[in-house]
Amino acid sequence: MTLLYVSTSIRPDGSTSRDLAETFLESWRQTHPHDTVVHRDLGAAPLPHLSLVEVTASMTDPRELTPEQAQAQELGRELAAEFIGADAYLIGYPRCTTGSIPSALKAWLDRLLLQPNVWQTEKVAAGRPAVT
Ligand SMILES: Cc1cc2nc3c(=O)[nH]c(=O)nc-3n(C[C@H](O)[C@H](O)[C@H](O)COP(=O)(O)O)c2cc1C
Repeated sequence: MTLLYVSTSIRPDGSTSRDLAETFLESWRQTHPHDTVVHRDLGAAPLPHLSLVEVTASMTDPRELTPEQAQAQELGRELAAEFIGADAYLIGYPRCTTGSIPSALKAWLDRLLLQPNVWQTEKVAAGRPAVT
């Protein structure tokens, strides 16, 4: 089983959301010692905002993609494969700016939801446990 852990705090140390998520992770590791944990650290390696090239690429027949569009899709494909390949999710994030999510997490969600294998597959993660 694979747990995808997404962290978003820009603070490598002294982060409340990391501490909380990692407390959960520690007990997960104890109860699931053979599981794989994949860590997508959006705080340490933020994703760029979604680009127009990616949006237009997502609406283009894959056989007609320009080299620029094909290249722009690579990051989204990587994120989608990581998301779909997980069996459980742990997403750590603080409240940010009037209670919304950090922009790092928004950029991840935006890019993920553009991927046909995520949005065209109804209930792609249905039944998989998630902790936020
Ligand atoms: C730009 C910014 C906006 C914030 N907005 C909110 C908010 O709207 N509501 C809230 O309860 N806390 C807000 N906070 C406080 C953070 O949620 C808090 O500092 C949190 O511990 C930061 O996460 P971290 O400790 O994992 O880095 C904000 C903090 C920052 C830096």
